[in-house]
Amino acid sequence: MRVLVTGGAGFIGSHTVLALLEAGHEPVIGDNFANSSPKVLERLEQIAGQPVTCHEVDLTDVAATDALVADVKPDAVIHFAGYKAVGESVEKPLMYYTNNLDSTFAVLAAMTEHGVEKFVFSSSATVYGPDAPLPYHEEYEPLRATNPYGWTKAMIEQIVTDVAAASPGFKAALLRYFNPIGAHESGLIGEDPSGIPNNLMPYIAQVAVGRREKLGVFGDDYDTKDGTGERDYIHVVDLAAGHVAALDHLDAMSESARAFNLGTGQGTSVFELLHAFERACGKELPYEVGPRRAGDLPVTYADPTRAREELGWKAEKTIDDMCVDTWRWQSANPNGFGG
Ligand code: WQD
Repeated sequence: MRVLVTGGAGFIGSHTVLALLEAGHEPVIGDNFANSSPKVLERLEQIAGQPVTCHEVDLTDVAATDALVADVKPDAVIHFAGYKAVGESVEKPLMYYTNNLDSTFAVLAAMTEHGVEKFVFSSSATVYGPDAPLPYHEEYEPLRATNPYGWTKAMIEQIVTDVAAASPGFKAALLRYFNPIGAHESGLIGEDPSGIPNNLMPYIAQVAVGRREKLGVFGDDYDTKDGTGERDYIHVVDLAAGHVAALDHLDAMSESARAFNLGTGQGTSVFELLHAFERACGKELPYEVGPRRAGDLPVTYADPTRAREELGWKAEKTIDDMCVDTWRWQSANPNGFGG
């Protein structure tokens, strides 16, 4: 299938483009490079050994997005494009609601106009909110985010569900990611957040490569295995494979829209991840325990049953794989795509 991949130059999008190529699909990227580097495209072509088509486009521009879909004529859309920093969304809610919702409205309108009926959406486990029992299961309701970023994901899930229900033939998979980390085995692409990393793994990697002095551990007094927060980390290559499995499953799906957890079902603590990374990079990494971060939950992890049973997909890679692959990327690219 020809697949329009919005946000395809980003961390998860670029890895999914590779997985689509490997599966024999024809990905076409639509990205404005607001949160990614055009350098990703040459790296993708280097890995894939073939050209990768990318259209630079502002997906909040309705006319430009319609023209893109009319031009590309995709069989399906995988929609990654959107702002994703939780903290920034609290400071700039209107920017997040406008960007994430307007781009989705434009994409859905263009799909409806041009008869594109297959949609895979990049959602997030953050939609489960603070009250959902563990392990998180897709049937849980009500979705209740705790920040504007998370609310945009919950709102878009509802919008897509309603559009799919009203559009005979339209099928949508809503993929709830847990904590994506790792990098492609080539070391040519990986996570490259701009500024000071919000997330644990890129921060650890930047300490290891000498860009940051030490890791700040956000609390070690949680009721967890070692007092630090536990999360369900999933290798980005496994996550990308989950998108291909969901895309290939849409025709067989009886529901018009359905959520799927993409996680491992295992929790890993901050200290466990830090020590795994020390094994991967072969050096002890400095850290300092500080206060808890506002809004953090002690433990989150997935019930991955539905994706296994219905998509025939499950995460295969280990925490050590995630650290080894991240270190290969970060050590070869100390400044990410910045060179
Ligand atoms: C993981 C653990 C922190 C940084 C976020 C978003 C979520 C999703 C994934 C988009 C926690 C601890 C972190 C640091 C630390 N993004 N930590 N020091 O918060 O689980 O999820 O990213 O969909 O929506 O909320 O990930 O990597 O920020 O934190 O101790 O410098 O690491 O307290 O326990 P999180 P994270």
